[in-house]
Amino acid sequence: GKVRAPTHIISTISDDRGEEPCYAGVPMSTIIQRGYGVGDVISLLWFKRSLPRYCTQFIEICIMLCADHGPCVSGAHNTIVTARAGKDLVSSLVSGLLTIGPRFGGAIDDAARYFKDACDRGLTPYEFVEGMKKEGIRVPGIGHRIKSRDNRDKRVQLLQQYAHTHFPSVKYMEYAVQVETYTLSKANNLVLNVDGAIGSLFLDLLAGSGMFSKQEIDEIIQIGYLNGLFVLARSIGLIGHTFDQKRLKQPLYRHPWEDVLYTK
Ligand code: ACO
Ligand code: LMR
Repeated sequence: GKVRAPTHIISTISDDRGEEPCYAGVPMSTIIQRGYGVGDVISLLWFKRSLPRYCTQFIEICIMLCADHGPCVSGAHNTIVTARAGKDLVSSLVSGLLTIGPRFGGAIDDAARYFKDACDRGLTPYEFVEGMKKEGIRVPGIGHRIKSRDNRDKRVQLLQQYAHTHFPSVKYMEYAVQVETYTLSKANNLVLNVDGAIGSLFLDLLAGSGMFSKQEIDEIIQIGYLNGLFVLARSIGLIGHTFDQKRLKQPLYRHPWEDVLYTK
């Protein structure tokens, strides 16, 4: 009989061999005919299934709200400096993207991991936060450089409002808010930040949509899909910052001496 030669690559998300490319089995023409948006495309290529509209809209809201946060944040700063050094678009973009990590924009997966574990184990916010403190780990998804109790992050509020209206359950988000109530009793800037809001709400989306088994949810959290939302979103802003610097013909950036403490 026929013997299949072993392949060096296995791929399950897209196929370009036929008359038209397919994302997770859905042909391009269907994507256009059904008026799918970028949230649907992310559902197909990341989660390998079509998610209900309220989920794909949530994904799109995450992308829109995280697209940019001004020129002063780590990512935009790197991109601006790189663009002003005369580098090309891709170099300027990746230089900004490389700052995304545990402190900046890349705390979504860890926030989901820790909130899920603590909530599922029934830990009180006090037990959870103090347990993290004992281990010397900052709570991912909590804390912000400029946002505080009296200067809340509008993005977090918008995500919470959307979920309250459209999600069947916001159990994990409510747990994250309880954690925030406790951390705010310790310091004013220990608010639930946008990474923590997306991390906890995505747990609610995965659990509440009825589209994922427990095992699949664990795999998504363990692999760490969710930082991808911030990476994708912020790329929009970083590309914008690159164009902005080029348009403004900005010269090479050099940091002022006065702003450095030279010491031995
Ligand atoms: N959990 C517990 N304690 C905290 C946390 C936290 N998440 N954040 C700050 N603190 C406390 C600590 O006691 C800290 O002292 P330490 O340096 O000895 O640990 C003290 O507050 C001082 O912190 P600040 O200087 O006020 O915090 P900073 O402005 O340097 O950090 C940051 C802000 C990086 C966001 C921080 O809160 C943090 O690491 N949070 C967790 C990671 C996170 O969620 N990042 C995403 C931010 S949102 C975004 O980037 C889109
Ligand atoms: C961001 O979205 O870039 C921020 O929340 C970080 C910041 O310091 O504003």
